[in-house]
Amino acid sequence: MSATDTTEPNRRDFLYVATGMAGVVAAGAVAWPFIDQMRPDASTLAAASIEVDVSSLTPGMSLTVKWRGRPVFIRNRTPEEVEAAKEVPMSDLKDPVARNANLAADATASDLDRSAGEGKENWIVMIGVCTHLGCVPLGQQGDFGGWFCPCHGSHYDTAGRIRKGPAPENLHVPSYAFVSDTTIRVG
Ligand code: FES
Repeated sequence: MSATDTTEPNRRDFLYVATGMAGVVAAGAVAWPFIDQMRPDASTLAAASIEVDVSSLTPGMSLTVKWRGRPVFIRNRTPEEVEAAKEVPMSDLKDPVARNANLAADATASDLDRSAGEGKENWIVMIGVCTHLGCVPLGQQGDFGGWFCPCHGSHYDTAGRIRKGPAPENLHVPSYAFVSDTTIRVG
């Protein structure tokens, strides 16, 4: 896994900002700590975008990576898990919206729109934060074989859709893309 920084300002940008701020704040000794606070923390920059090697994930295996301070679940679903998710009638869904940052806000929560899409439906990538109060759900558990949040008993299915319990929304799908057959860029 390697981290990719896509937003780091270059040195010239920083010097420009520093010069501008020094002009506004009369006392240089006060200006520097203030400017320093404005610079993005190095760990924040490093997490702007991450690339994850998923070549070792055979069907049925998952990986949790950290992105922007939050866990991200990446699962290579088995054909049975994909089938189970596809068979669910949309009318059974508590949250009918895909919650997929790669799609329009009103995209429906079909299995295809929750997954990596045509030809890659076995892959699902989600923010690993329960939409109730933010606990981290456990994988391959719960009444629907997907994820289970033990904090207050929310059950998500194999497409990460909320099916039972207090969570109001499906697990969110972050912006991501396959940059090669075996590498996913998140962010
Ligand atoms: S935080 Fe997950 S069920 Fe409450």
